[in-house]
Amino acid sequence: MKYLESAQKAAREAGKILLSNLGTVQKVSFKSIQSNLVTEIDKQSEEQIIKILNDDFPDFDILAEESGSSSTKNSEFMWVIDPLDGTTNYAHGLPIFTISIGLVKGNEVITGVVYDPVRDHMFYAEKGKGAFLNGKALSVSKTKDTKKSLLVTGFPYNVEENPDFCFERFIVMTKNSRAVRRLGSAALDFAYVASGIFDGFWEVKLNPWDIAAGMLLVKEAGGKVTNFNGDDCDIFNPQILSSNGIIHDKLIELLKLAEQIQINL
Ligand code: IPD
Ligand code: CA
Ligand code: CA
Repeated sequence: MKYLESAQKAAREAGKILLSNLGTVQKVSFKSIQSNLVTEIDKQSEEQIIKILNDDFPDFDILAEESGSSSTKNSEFMWVIDPLDGTTNYAHGLPIFTISIGLVKGNEVITGVVYDPVRDHMFYAEKGKGAFLNGKALSVSKTKDTKKSLLVTGFPYNVEENPDFCFERFIVMTKNSRAVRRLGSAALDFAYVASGIFDGFWEVKLNPWDIAAGMLLVKEAGGKVTNFNGDDCDIFNPQILSSNGIIHDKLIELLKLAEQIQINL
């Protein structure tokens, strides 16, 4: 059984669960802080994904957002799963959310799937084989001028206690681009960079399950993914900048510039 097929099957099945419960969320609980929501549906989606992947690849390790790590099998392969990326959107009935499944071998993501069930958009990539949306090859944008770029970012749940220049960066990037969006699903942000819709995406505090699949999509679509210093990084690096590659250095410059300005909130 191929990795990609299995990940797509799991994402589609999870997508059915998410779609059939959209708009019905009644029970929301919180993780460590008030704005970090989790619903019963996150958990159901995750169970479904893990079941399918475990049936197909019983020896692989799993790192999944809601149930944590099962790195006891000592496999060189690890599935990295976000069963619902965009929980806040989902809990409010906003139809912008995805399922993200990446397969890591050693230090590298070798397969990635980001599925948007609302639009039936299946984004996928395999290392060295390109990135695709529903069978169509993807490539990043060719935008050279940052002033003409459309960017996206996200804020961490604890942005109030630990703003980490999020607001300053938002201001600087907004002043130096066409616009900055906040969609609320990091995996979709990466997928839209891979598609050439967004020219760049940065975020200060992501988790491995937000990053794994999306990082591969962007790289395989010809884009760049680094930390804020421009160094290559793996899925355990919380600060991520991804772009079409052309405006990457300029975006790094702007991210640093933002650390020098002061705003009074
Ligand atoms: C969140 C989303 C959001 C990003 C947050 C993530 P979740 O994931 O990807 O866009 O800004 O940092 O935690 O909690 O909805 O799976
Ligand atoms: Ca997430
Ligand atoms: Ca999630």
